[in-house]
Amino acid sequence: MVDVSVHDSADQAAHDAAIAIRDHVLTCVDHKQPCRLGLATGGTPLPVYRDLVRWVRSDRLRFDDVTTFNLDEYVGLAPDHPQSYHEYMRQNLFDEAGIRGCNAFLPIGSVVDPNQEARRYESLVVDAGGPTMQLLGIGRNGHIGFNEPGSPLDSITRVVDLADDTIAANSRYFQDISEVPRQAITMGIGTILRSHSIIVLATGLAKADAVARAIQDPVDASHPASALQLHSRVRWILDREAASLLHSDQ
Ligand code: F6R
Repeated sequence: MVDVSVHDSADQAAHDAAIAIRDHVLTCVDHKQPCRLGLATGGTPLPVYRDLVRWVRSDRLRFDDVTTFNLDEYVGLAPDHPQSYHEYMRQNLFDEAGIRGCNAFLPIGSVVDPNQEARRYESLVVDAGGPTMQLLGIGRNGHIGFNEPGSPLDSITRVVDLADDTIAANSRYFQDISEVPRQAITMGIGTILRSHSIIVLATGLAKADAVARAIQDPVDASHPASALQLHSRVRWILDREAASLLHSDQ
């Protein structure tokens, strides 16, 4: 049985995801267990990060003993580039939630040898033991991280070419579509599946088809998010629109 929660609005869905992350952090602290959060960028998790920041400001949450690993970074963008995922994370979570740079990891996109950087990042994530909880979004084409359709289900962190769809979708953050990097370093599907638990947050009608295929269709590399069926602790948190193509028995 797939674990699916459907909410009336995108904000409610994001709030539910934020609660799951907060409870995970608090449980790890209570049990003195390591807490490693896998984090995503993009539009969908923004309200999640807003909730987490609010709780830190009101002293209901602390990230002192939390390590974070982001899914991906654009090849060619330095960590201080305004459109880099380093900058996104600093602005939307790290600076505001007191997550120090020494505890927060992302692949570095501006290195001379991105393939070597991908190998270094894979080792970093794997040697740490993988995220204890991974937050994922999903692309309209079914990508998770930047594992585009056709990515091997056991892929590890590597340099990938972005699909035209993804470049078009992400061009909203750039002045012009020509500025969107064509490649990224992403955790692989196999890397993501090492996470102890996974939350997938998807909101809006544009994600409905990708969500339905991921949950209801057979596992297939042509739809990377379907690989999540191979993991036993995945929770889908959706709004009504993103859930609108699910069969009623889900
Ligand atoms: C982001 C990431 C991507 C996004 C996906 C959805 O780090 O890895 O898989 O989660 O592209 O993006 P949004 O939320 O902008 O629709």
